Amino acid sequence: MPENTALLSYMRSKLRITHDNLFMFLTEYGLESAGALIIVEEGRDVSELNCEYRDITDKLIIELKKDPENQIDLIIALDAKISLAGAQNKLPVRYENGKFLISADNSLAATSHVIKPPHRIFKGLPYNEAFCMELARRVGIPVPMSDIVNIGGAEVFITERYDRAVADGRVIRYHQEDFCQALGINHALKYEIAGGPGFRDCIALLNRSGVQKTSVVDFARVAIFNVIIANHDAHAKNFSFLYNYQPEIARDGTGVTLAPFYDLVCTGIYPLNESFAMSIGGISYFHELDDDAYRQFAGDLSLPYNALSGLINDTIGKVRASVSDIVQSYTSRFGNEDIFIKIFNIITNNCKIMEKASDSLNASP
Ligand SMILES: Nc1ncnc2c1ncn2[C@@H]1O[C@H](COP(=O)(O)OP(=O)(O)OP(=O)(O)O)[C@@H](O)[C@H]1O
Ligand SMILES: [Mg+2]
Repeated sequence: MPENTALLSYMRSKLRITHDNLFMFLTEYGLESAGALIIVEEGRDVSELNCEYRDITDKLIIELKKDPENQIDLIIALDAKISLAGAQNKLPVRYENGKFLISADNSLAATSHVIKPPHRIFKGLPYNEAFCMELARRVGIPVPMSDIVNIGGAEVFITERYDRAVADGRVIRYHQEDFCQALGINHALKYEIAGGPGFRDCIALLNRSGVQKTSVVDFARVAIFNVIIANHDAHAKNFSFLYNYQPEIARDGTGVTLAPFYDLVCTGIYPLNESFAMSIGGISYFHELDDDAYRQFAGDLSLPYNALSGLINDTIGKVRASVSDIVQSYTSRFGNEDIFIKIFNIITNNCKIMEKASDSLNASP
């Protein structure tokens, strides 16, 4: 379910769903959701549902032309019966041949992409997310395809849904579950400070889930990457598992794999809370990280500390090898040099500080 309370309350009141009637909400909005869940009211015969789409391209262009940063939520504007988690304005769509489609009423048709429009307060958010996802991709971190797409003059972030695949022209659903769901933790507790999962809990979860060992390393690498790019909002709902996506590569035949990473954003350029969503070795702020914190962080990630330091240096090297190039190519594609320079400065500064810390970690016994 969306976490934006204004959106949730609109979605409820539109269909006269009272606040405590979770089941009615899900039966109204749960046909197209995260993963493979298709929720309908009790007694409904799913085989009677159609598989049709509604073309929303023209409506989307009109909406985004108005004032892309001050528009009402896309789910409301397009009257979409769709439910996806998270606080940001976003819309799952089927994107094909330049057309944007959503499921028609009472339809089982699935979406293939997610779009996120510009934000009223956080300027340049689509560029920021596209930039960080591209950097992650070049560093070798698994991420779904993503880019900027121009809709009616608005530059919008678009990403492929990793929980969908297209076969014979049809979109197939694969189940996904975020780390809070996997641990049975309510979204209200997603931050570690609120009692939610920290790195130690995530690594323990990964280890008992049967995912490949390389996924545990990917997870450690993205944790480091998030510190480098000042993504302070990497809470446990920003990591997910996929079920039966590629059963052949899962260990122990469980069919569980770690989903590619998403929601990678340099939150550090905005006036937001600067504490890490999950503490780094017990430390909440970047400028307070010291040897002891990195040592504890290595323990939390189940890595010997020289392995952590190797991973930090390797990630820094890969970030440095690509970041200027992305600034250049994004500036020439989109202008908006300011935002890319701001992100670049934070990243290069953080690389310098972390490199020193990692050298000192290696030098000490
Ligand atoms: N590329 C994707 N493929 C499949 N599902 C996705 C994808 N991107 C996002 N989702 C789903 O939507 C949820 C919210 O996405 P995301 O974290 O990007 O949104 P957000 O609103 O920016 O989140 P936050 O509340 O952390 O700011 C994810 O937990 C996941 O279930
Ligand atoms: Mg998120």
